[in-house]
Amino acid sequence: MKNHHFKIEKLSLPFRKSQGIVTAKSPSNIALIKYWGKHHEQIPANPSISFTLNQCYSDTELSYQPRKNQGEKFSVRFLFSGKEQPEFIPKILNFFERILPYCRYLPNFDFTINTKNTFPHSSGIASSASSMSALALCLIQLEQKSRFLSDQQDPLQRASFLARLGSGSACRSIYPGLALWGAHESIKGSSDLYAIPYPYEVHKTFTNYRDTILLIDTGVKKISSSQGHVLMNQHPYARQRFDSVRKNFERFIIILKEGNLEAFGEMIEHEALSLHAMMICSQPYFLLMKPDTLHVIEKVRDFRAQTGKPVYFTLDAGANVHLLYPAEEKDAIKSFIEKELLKHCQQGQCIEDSCAYPVDYIRHKNK
Ligand code: DP6
Repeated sequence: MKNHHFKIEKLSLPFRKSQGIVTAKSPSNIALIKYWGKHHEQIPANPSISFTLNQCYSDTELSYQPRKNQGEKFSVRFLFSGKEQPEFIPKILNFFERILPYCRYLPNFDFTINTKNTFPHSSGIASSASSMSALALCLIQLEQKSRFLSDQQDPLQRASFLARLGSGSACRSIYPGLALWGAHESIKGSSDLYAIPYPYEVHKTFTNYRDTILLIDTGVKKISSSQGHVLMNQHPYARQRFDSVRKNFERFIIILKEGNLEAFGEMIEHEALSLHAMMICSQPYFLLMKPDTLHVIEKVRDFRAQTGKPVYFTLDAGANVHLLYPAEEKDAIKSFIEKELLKHCQQGQCIEDSCAYPVDYIRHKNK
């Protein structure tokens, strides 16, 4: 499928005049194999796969009405948790500019976006994945309400396509469970333009996984993910990373099918550390891990060595640590976290989340 498939060319008159309010909730996600490096318009340098979370999500309301005053290209008000937050508007305008060729109706409306997150804004958890995917889902509803989307267009695929243009990782948040973005020769239906639900067999253990997010540093990062991606363009080890990720995917398909927890853990930790190794070797370099990130990593390794419990870590582009483990281990892991790890978190904070597939979704998939 090509970009032009997603273009909406004609605007019907009733559509132009329409007004309404649409809402969408969309979660954050945690990448197991990471997207780091991109080219052209949000095309990933390598494929990535993530668990979509359940508890950390954005809840967005988009109201739209026919444009009153022309002037600026787009008309957008932005409220965060009910409060006007104009500093977020440039990001939205940038997003609108990118999706304009596919959403030609945007200049015809006055938009008000009112959004809130279930996780603390200053938690260091990337909110761009949940906020951009929620906004894309709102736009799809606006298009559906106007009966403007043809039956041939898959609304979720279109939402993922649009969300990607807002923030790459956002395109994976459209689907629950495991979502995959980026073309890979061994993965049927995979695309650089949008994410897909992971299309192969997944062992039962991975359909109900836990993620405890240890909030090590809740401050604003000095280097954003977008700046980090740019540094991959001239990176001395970029090629090696992109090649090894492609190879790792072949193994990961088998791991996900067989439910080999040790191999799964080794892979996600390797991925997390490779991501941060890329940051450390960028020119200029940057370090997002904090001393407490390393303390936690060491304690997790020791705990595993002593107890044999399958708890492994991954990291986003930040200092926080995501601990991933099967649901049935939650009591043992909880007491380990409370005794050993919370002291390394800011104000002892962590977020309990899960990557459980919705029950209906599993039933549907197994049909
Ligand atoms: C480390 O999706 O935030 O979380 O496309 O520039 O918005 P932009 O970047 P973003 O990068 C995410 C990087 C990551 C890995 C991942 O989620 O795959």
